[in-house]
Amino acid sequence: MSPQTQPDPFMRDQWYPVSALQDIAAGTPRVTKLFGQRVSYRREADGACSASTEDRALPVLQRYGCLWTSLGTPGELFEIPEYTEADRRNVAAGTVAVQVSAQRGIENFLDMGHFPYVHTGILGALPHTEVKEYNVEETPDGREIIATECLFYQPMASTVSTSGADVEYIYRVPHPTCSVLYKSSPLDEKRLDVIALFGQPTGEESFRGHMVLSILDDVNTDDFISYFQLHIFGQDKPILENQMPKRLPLDPRAETPIRADKTSIMYRRWLTRHGATYGVIPAQG
Ligand SMILES: [Fe+2]
Repeated sequence: MSPQTQPDPFMRDQWYPVSALQDIAAGTPRVTKLFGQRVSYRREADGACSASTEDRALPVLQRYGCLWTSLGTPGELFEIPEYTEADRRNVAAGTVAVQVSAQRGIENFLDMGHFPYVHTGILGALPHTEVKEYNVEETPDGREIIATECLFYQPMASTVSTSGADVEYIYRVPHPTCSVLYKSSPLDEKRLDVIALFGQPTGEESFRGHMVLSILDDVNTDDFISYFQLHIFGQDKPILENQMPKRLPLDPRAETPIRADKTSIMYRRWLTRHGATYGVIPAQG
């Protein structure tokens, strides 16, 4: 067997989700992959979790409804302050395996331009295809990318929507394979729903996407919220799996830039600056 490609230090030294906590039956060991390596994990009856490779124990963290681990030396996991607000519904909405790099998954998550074509009648509708001007920048510490003032017409933006509306989005990319999206809540004009995609790179050209929501919804069941989110991701999956190349090219000239790609261009630069090579095609020179 050929040796696995090793993750670069930036990718290696991060926390990665391996499962929603609710999906781990106590006392039953489970196996998954991280960077092509076999990782076992388990949860005990008292809630304590552990993870290991064949030859060593790995650090673990329980956060945002998921079990996280790392093959390297991770720092602090990014904060989602809304997650602890008492009146929010925190839902681990599901995990989907996708045969394309995790960074491709994040790039697609950041792209509003595909809504009317891929999520027709839900997150977008023809002829409302325009991506209006928005802001994107790095936070002063360089640790994350944030896109603000993203406005997009949506016929059914969330589980509690009753009509179409221009929805405001904020995107955060605080981690190479995780993105946190904030969108205006139909129930409370001062607050934002949170939808996070946590990517687990199982290989260079495959990942598992764990979807976690922290939303204002006092109407629907967890099952329906999960169904809605899985339905949307189910529309993205075949599009993602048809992308060529399957790793994300970091050279800004590799793919035609349009305005909707402004966040994507910054994401690629950010990955380049941090020295990411795993799951991407590094820019030459
Ligand atoms: Fe999508």
